[in-house]
Amino acid sequence: MMTEDEAMRRAVALAARGLGTTSPNPVVGCVLLDADGDMAGEGFHAYAGGPHAEIVALAQAGERARGGTALVSLEPCNHTGRTGPCAQALINAGVRRVVIAVDDPTPVAAGGAATLRGAGVQVATGMRRAEAEDGNIAWLTAVRRGRPYVTWKFAATLDGRSAAADGTSQWITSAPARTDVHELRSTVDAIIAGVGTVIADDPQLTVRELRNGRLAITQPLRVVVDSGGRTPAGARVRDAAAPTWIATAAEVGTDADGRVDLPALMTALYARGIRAALLEGGPTLAGSFLAAGLVDQVVGYVAPKLLGDGRSAVVGAGVTSIAEAIELDFTDITQVGADLRFTASLRPKPE
Ligand SMILES: NC(=O)c1ccc[n+]([C@@H]2O[C@H](COP(=O)([O-])OP(=O)(O)OC[C@H]3O[C@@H](n4cnc5c(N)ncnc54)[C@H](OP(=O)(O)O)[C@@H]3O)[C@@H](O)[C@H]2O)c1
Repeated sequence: MMTEDEAMRRAVALAARGLGTTSPNPVVGCVLLDADGDMAGEGFHAYAGGPHAEIVALAQAGERARGGTALVSLEPCNHTGRTGPCAQALINAGVRRVVIAVDDPTPVAAGGAATLRGAGVQVATGMRRAEAEDGNIAWLTAVRRGRPYVTWKFAATLDGRSAAADGTSQWITSAPARTDVHELRSTVDAIIAGVGTVIADDPQLTVRELRNGRLAITQPLRVVVDSGGRTPAGARVRDAAAPTWIATAAEVGTDADGRVDLPALMTALYARGIRAALLEGGPTLAGSFLAAGLVDQVVGYVAPKLLGDGRSAVVGAGVTSIAEAIELDFTDITQVGADLRFTASLRPKPE
């Protein structure tokens, strides 16, 4: 026997396995309990175009789905996209009850709960909603705002420096923190960097050193924000290891300073199916993103070092007085190797 609550917790955990590979779709997990309340099947949506979580769980459960209960982290879809509607598949399988954590906010896929109810299936919503929303935060925020969910990641010393006075900046943090960054990259669809960083550090911006020898299934799109196309011909971001977009002002649009228009860049990335993006700096580009209100979450790796002088992790974020400070809430603080990793979400500004 498994309680519905335990099954939903499992469905939310399963959903997370799809992070980084389902866009433009959400991550979804599903657990099917048979009529006796025993686990009969489970599944998650692994990649866009692949079977939805409910379909994987139904295939596993077979006849045991009849009279059973499905626990899904997101409302079952009601439309025929690349795959058939999941609401109908649940009805056809004879599922008696469906418990949904979060409603689908997209007009095209919503309506699954109504279809189920119309067919006489018992539907309950809201179980473990906060957890399930959290697990799908990038996708939910992206579809609500029509732009990718942006996580700004930086590494700094205890005194907030991202480079020393002489400009050297590599290896501020320890090896475990750098591996952690690769894990973070593996959960997003795009990695964004300014041309300043590309010229200074020549980063490759790919997913490489995952834990336990895992290999990346897909590589995020590398986006270089480069108004005039200064990215060197031999830059590593131009190699064949991952797709790259050198986003110039001519292609994207120009802001008041003649640089790449960031809201237009976000709209263009959303149109390309990007739902979660990792902004990897540097300080100038991060400042512009923050000033434009385009950062949703910050992940900072703080090394137990002091540099005294050197560049701040962010410059020009449009803040001049303490009253204008950008406010965040810590959502996680973890020690990674010798460093601290904090995660914080930006407080939405009052409309
Ligand atoms: N510790 C860390 O976490 C970290 C992370 C990354 C980088 N860094 C360090 O940061 C340094 C480079 O940073 P940086 O500030 O010089 O460069 P950056 O932020 O990587 O790139 C800034 C450049 O992006 C271009 N850009 C295009 N549109 C823009 C817009 N709307 N707003 C802002 N910039 C726009 C501009 O060049 P154009 O006008 O030519 O387009 C601008 O000069 C390096 O030393 C690197 O090591 C540290």
